[in-house]
Amino acid sequence: MAEFIPVEPFDIVIFGGTGDLSKRKLLPALYHRFLDGQIHETCRIIGVARSKRTREQFIELAEEACKAANGEWDSKKWKAFAKLLEYDAMDITTAGKQWDNVKSWLTNDGRPQIFYLATTPLIYVDVCKVLGEEGLNTEHARLVLEKPIGKDLASAEAINAGVGAVFDEKAIYRIDHYLGKETVQNLLVLRFANALFEPVWSRNAIDHVQITVAESIGLEGRADYYDRSGAVRDMIQNHLLQLLCLTAMEPPNSLHADDVRMEKIKVLRALKPFTEETVAQNSVRAQYEAGLVDDEKVPSYLETLSGDAPQSSTETFAALKVEISNGRWAGVPFYLRTGKRMTDRRSSIMIQFKPTPHPLFDSADRVPNRLVMRLQPDEGMKLFMQIKEPGPGGMRLKYLPLDLSYAENFMVRYPDAYERLLMDVVRGNLSLFMSRAEVEAAWRWVDQLLASWEQSGQPLEQYPAGTQGPLQSAMLLDRDGREWWDE
Ligand code: BG6
Repeated sequence: MAEFIPVEPFDIVIFGGTGDLSKRKLLPALYHRFLDGQIHETCRIIGVARSKRTREQFIELAEEACKAANGEWDSKKWKAFAKLLEYDAMDITTAGKQWDNVKSWLTNDGRPQIFYLATTPLIYVDVCKVLGEEGLNTEHARLVLEKPIGKDLASAEAINAGVGAVFDEKAIYRIDHYLGKETVQNLLVLRFANALFEPVWSRNAIDHVQITVAESIGLEGRADYYDRSGAVRDMIQNHLLQLLCLTAMEPPNSLHADDVRMEKIKVLRALKPFTEETVAQNSVRAQYEAGLVDDEKVPSYLETLSGDAPQSSTETFAALKVEISNGRWAGVPFYLRTGKRMTDRRSSIMIQFKPTPHPLFDSADRVPNRLVMRLQPDEGMKLFMQIKEPGPGGMRLKYLPLDLSYAENFMVRYPDAYERLLMDVVRGNLSLFMSRAEVEAAWRWVDQLLASWEQSGQPLEQYPAGTQGPLQSAMLLDRDGREWWDE
């Protein structure tokens, strides 16, 4: 069983407290940490949103949300948890007397006061200004920002500057929930706590790397946001690039946030920019058509958008061949792929090693070693190796994994990414949060990709919902004599 070390008492204000993120992730995350005794009974959890509701109505909303979430339900402990909750309705972009309630609920005993912006990023700067005017940017304040931080480099810089004018960088927690996933953290342990891997973790032994985040869901009521973003801004700029950074970075001097972030930034800065000339060969953008997902008919992307005859060239799928220009990785392609309405929900990092230099056995059996870190579902790690199939009949090779599946080796439920990251905010541990420089470096590279698509008139391919993306995605690897790993 996992051991949960209680964190010090804290207060948290969730702006956008009745919104989707709060209901699906934040309130359940806090409830589950409370169930495990990690959160103290004197903590305050304050929901703030525009809609008028009583505290009791907010508690009802929270109860429904926590019951619907994956995990244990305990009605006795729920009653104790509900005591922690407060609610206020207001416009958070203006200062004034309306802040009195929130201020009166905050405990001023030196505990962390967390302000979680689960709102549209369009108001991040205004809200921070108001928090400053209200004197809430104290030395105990911690600000949590959800993605997306901007829609390009210029808007990200504006947000970072506006927020940074009120809060110190050390008090700003830019969340990327992929960094809170168990297997993502396991990647760090695997790489840096096992002497086995470092000598082979480079162009000397690695043929290529594949990072896939496939989703079977569609827009889930977020069409407005998604149509303005697309797969590159929504997933690649943050989640996939973070996975790439952890896979490719040099060993940090320590696990201190400054050291880890410094190594990640170096990777982001070493990403080879796409240009108008290179982008067509090295990338694919596509949108899904109607199709079958889990045996159910789903409409096309365009049909999901509102309006009579919606037009949109937003990509719901992207595949990229990325190069990292440094000594460790020169010549090793990193293939990234993500999409909505793909066959199933499946995310993994696959590291394919080079084949043995000399074929001792039947060449048909010369399949290279692969290390697969499965993020979801069935979290775990598999190292695929060749072994001899036992028994007589000659030297037959069998390709089998050394299997470290989480479900089989550990307890069934372990904390969701948000649970872990929220506890890290309380502990003041910034290691798994993105720095300003990281976010901006990622946008700089992504801006170049999007501009190259625009300049070269990169076509928007189509793929039927419920598939692994368009044919062009398979061709991207086929040109290099490789295939996507879809197991
Ligand atoms: C979010 C994206 O950041 O991550 C969503 O905005 C996406 O579009 C989600 O569905 C995926 O997260 P997870 O944890 O379900 O893989």
